[in-house]
Amino acid sequence: GWNMENVLDEEIKAINDTVGPEEHVICALSGGVDSTVAATIVHKAIGDRLHCIFVDNGLLRYKERERVTETFESDLHLSVTCVDASNEFLSKLKGVVDPEMKRKIIGKEFISIFDAFAHNLEQKLGKKPAYLVQGTLYPDVIESCPPPGSGRTHSRTIKSHHNVGGLPKDMKLKLIEPLKLLFKDEVRQLGRILNVPDAFLKRHPFPGPGLAVRVLGDVTEGNALDILRQVDEIFIQSIKDAGLYDLIWQAFAVFLPVRSVGVQGDQRTHSHVVALRAVTSQDGMTADWYYFEHKFLDDVARKICNSVRGVNRVVQDITSKPPSTIEWE
Ligand code: XMP
Repeated sequence: GWNMENVLDEEIKAINDTVGPEEHVICALSGGVDSTVAATIVHKAIGDRLHCIFVDNGLLRYKERERVTETFESDLHLSVTCVDASNEFLSKLKGVVDPEMKRKIIGKEFISIFDAFAHNLEQKLGKKPAYLVQGTLYPDVIESCPPPGSGRTHSRTIKSHHNVGGLPKDMKLKLIEPLKLLFKDEVRQLGRILNVPDAFLKRHPFPGPGLAVRVLGDVTEGNALDILRQVDEIFIQSIKDAGLYDLIWQAFAVFLPVRSVGVQGDQRTHSHVVALRAVTSQDGMTADWYYFEHKFLDDVARKICNSVRGVNRVVQDITSKPPSTIEWE
């Protein structure tokens, strides 16, 4: 029958039938549910012949690297090489303001780091890894190749989406896509069976280019990324404390490249403005902005201005998708 225990057993068997006993497999973990569950399934099948990489691109959320690597190691026992490539990414993004250009640079940099990882591994093993794991889901398959007449619109033609896992140029890796026939809720069920912590399975989606699309304009300006991380953490933590996290599709803060006048203590300030965005959605294709209680918003705004240096104004995004997109870039 189509229950998730059977699906898991069949996947593991299929992977073992495909990957030869001497062959090695690589996987890029993004910190998201899909790549994590995909890697965990492959690890069940072939153990330490799976080699994972997690890249810190300098565009992650507050304490994200620590939080996800803890899950990889303690809960899932995956062997993960953690590469801190913040300097590489941020130096290439310096001065870049065009959103599509930012995505292209990030995608390209990611591939070059992944490439180096695969080549180092080849040196170490004395042979090329043969397979690459990707967390492709069924809706991704439909979206990149919609059935004729399905009338699905392509969000991907509006913005280029770069997830981690671009193919290294000269490696000729074959793909393993254990989630290719599954929907998101089925992936979560598999994750539960595989011991992925519930908090991890329920995390809001996070874009591959990370905070680069949430700092408008040049992400390396001043301490924008650092301010954004602090603001975002306060917003998300408040949402969790209020018991609202699971009702919301995505919530996050956006750093605006403008300053406004304020007064803090008895000082005139000329500081940063941040925007809060929260939406409900079924699949990210359309979305409605989320109604918070005024008291909640008031508390969050006060907390942000009181504890994040350099912010003196908080605004809320009250547009749905369409006409806006979920992200601001
Ligand atoms: P938009 O902003 O297009 O976003 O309404 C729809 C969903 O896609 C996510 N998103 C991305 N995900 N790479 C990703 O992996 C990207 O470049 C990207 N841009 C947007 C967004 O967070 C939302 O869930």
